[in-house]
Amino acid sequence: MNDEIDHQELVLRAATPADEIGIRELNTAAFGQDNEARLVSRLRHCGALVLEMVAQTPRGRILGHIAFSRVTPADSGPGQGLLVTCLAPMAVWPEFQHQGIGGKLITRSLELLREKGEDLVVVLGYPTYYPRFGFDAELAQKVHGPYSGIAFMACALSEAGSRDLPVTVTFATPFEEFE
Ligand SMILES: CC(C)(COP(=O)(O)OP(=O)(O)OC[C@H]1O[C@@H](n2cnc3c(N)ncnc32)[C@H](O)[C@@H]1OP(=O)(O)O)[C@@H](O)C(=O)NCCC(=O)NCCS
Repeated sequence: MNDEIDHQELVLRAATPADEIGIRELNTAAFGQDNEARLVSRLRHCGALVLEMVAQTPRGRILGHIAFSRVTPADSGPGQGLLVTCLAPMAVWPEFQHQGIGGKLITRSLELLREKGEDLVVVLGYPTYYPRFGFDAELAQKVHGPYSGIAFMACALSEAGSRDLPVTVTFATPFEEFE
């Protein structure tokens, strides 16, 4: 049974250092293990995070979290100048899932990334979920790196993001240790 949230009261904001424990607990609860929580911590502490947001209640309880880290294009090819990020991980407390909190975090984050001048976002996730926000597995086939297949999707935020492809990319180092 889900606890219902009042969407009008949901606050979406950038994460701050004071949120670290709440974000760790949330990721551990949502994934049922602490691998993703450790991934977030490593991404944060190696300076790879481009955007990290939380959804919270007016009283300050963090219900959802999303992180975007820098993805680096190779020094050659049409995509070498693109600004690319990776959406991972994202989590909502189990009893608050399937009420649109995750969707709100994705939509707002993509707006902010577009405003920051980012060109392309990639994700490895549910193929039935991310396309509703503009992610496309076909576009991701032009993003060459360690991931491929229908779960690997890309969302262009600028004209260059869909034009200056293919691009070969490297993910932040903490992903290499992640299982
Ligand atoms: C994935 C997650 C962040 C989505 O947050 P949310 O607030 O529940 O998302 P929304 O309410 O916006 O959308 C729900 C949709 O997500 C998709 N979804 C969620 N969990 C899913 C799963 N295990 N398998 C496939 N699709 C899933 C479905 O399309 C679902 O639609 P439905 O509610 O009609 O079933 C949340 O379910 C979660 O924390 N899951 C556990 C951690 C996880 O798997 N994170 C994603 C990988 S990085």
